[in-house]
Amino acid sequence: MTRLLVTGAAGFIGSNFVRRALETAPHLRLIAYDALTYAGNLANLSDVLSDERLTFVRGDICDSDQLDALPQVDAIINFAAESHVDRSIMGSAEFVRTNIQGVHTLLEYARRTNVSRLVQVSTDEVYGSLGSTGKFTEESPLAPNSPYSASKAAGDLLARAYHETHKTPVIVTRCSNNYGPYQFPEKVIPLFITNRLQDLKVPLYGDGLNVRDWIHVQDHCDALLLVLDKGAPGVVYNIGGGCEITNLELTREILRRLDSDESCIERVTDRPAHDRRYAVDFSRISSQLGWQPEIDFAEGLSATVDWYRRNEAWWRAVKDGQYLEYYNKQYAQR
Ligand code: NAD
Ligand code: TYD
Repeated sequence: MTRLLVTGAAGFIGSNFVRRALETAPHLRLIAYDALTYAGNLANLSDVLSDERLTFVRGDICDSDQLDALPQVDAIINFAAESHVDRSIMGSAEFVRTNIQGVHTLLEYARRTNVSRLVQVSTDEVYGSLGSTGKFTEESPLAPNSPYSASKAAGDLLARAYHETHKTPVIVTRCSNNYGPYQFPEKVIPLFITNRLQDLKVPLYGDGLNVRDWIHVQDHCDALLLVLDKGAPGVVYNIGGGCEITNLELTREILRRLDSDESCIERVTDRPAHDRRYAVDFSRISSQLGWQPEIDFAEGLSATVDWYRRNEAWWRAVKDGQYLEYYNKQYAQR
């Protein structure tokens, strides 16, 4: 039995990870730890909260007293972060706090408690932007362009330094853009799907020709479970979907699935310092750990559109902001 602390477990990827871990890794006992910021939502875990292998604790990764109050764990995986580029452009203080100070606090906690693994979940955005050719490898220089990606890069570098200096068994993973159920509708795919379900236009930035490499969240979670089990401390693993598509093509794919045409696209001013292209070389995790993405993008996107159609109450509550009061109050009363 392995006791795993999952920080940021009530967000998009963290909640999908918890569900996948409970389904596929019977040796794991999970502490789901989350500050429940605007992006954290206990409704994301509602179907698994009663599982006896899961305990939920509300807490902040920047608070070492709260971390010290937890039962001893064997390993940690950190999803807790401020994660949206546009918000980091509006104001970056919370990004510096959670993505840098929070990672530092977790690294110190990992040292104190002698865990056997700390997986720091990071992003390909730390590498900056690509031209029309080439892919990010783990050796690509870090060249972040947004306050979000800069704060993630700083967290990655602290993780590296703790491994070098203190032999803290940290592994950093850098994944491309995720999509799937329970993604907060500020990110492009759920925003565009739910806007069409509300009969609103979809705001496409700039010329729409920026390229992202999409991966289904379940493939990402499977890669992380493998890294937790078999990854080597001190190593960085890129994770990617092998599916590059422009935002314009992506928008057309979403609109087609919602019986909408291009008149629903609203061209809006571009994001400042908008990274042009991301593409991930994930040959290291493939050759060393035997992982590759399984979910075909066209099928995964159709399933995701269906999920948002079927879960209107979830996204309406999130878009209205009511979920914060409702679910968190409800949980506090348990
Ligand atoms: P998210 O915004 O949906 O979830 C983040 C979670 O962290 C929320 O539940 C929030 O309440 C929690 N949190 C925030 N600050 C906290 C704090 N100080 N203490 C404790 N909990 C806190 O983000 P996501 O999309 O699930 O991303 C998870 C991780 O994966 C992030 O580190 C992100 O950088 C990384 N990542 C995301 C993507 C993507 O496409 N979404 C791609 C690659 C990497
Ligand atoms: P996003 O989902 O915010 O992820 P990231 O910026 O981390 O890649 O955005 C994905 C792409 O979609 C990105 O190139 C910006 C673009 N985008 C739009 O065109 N309109 C939108 O309203 C949003 C949120 C994003």
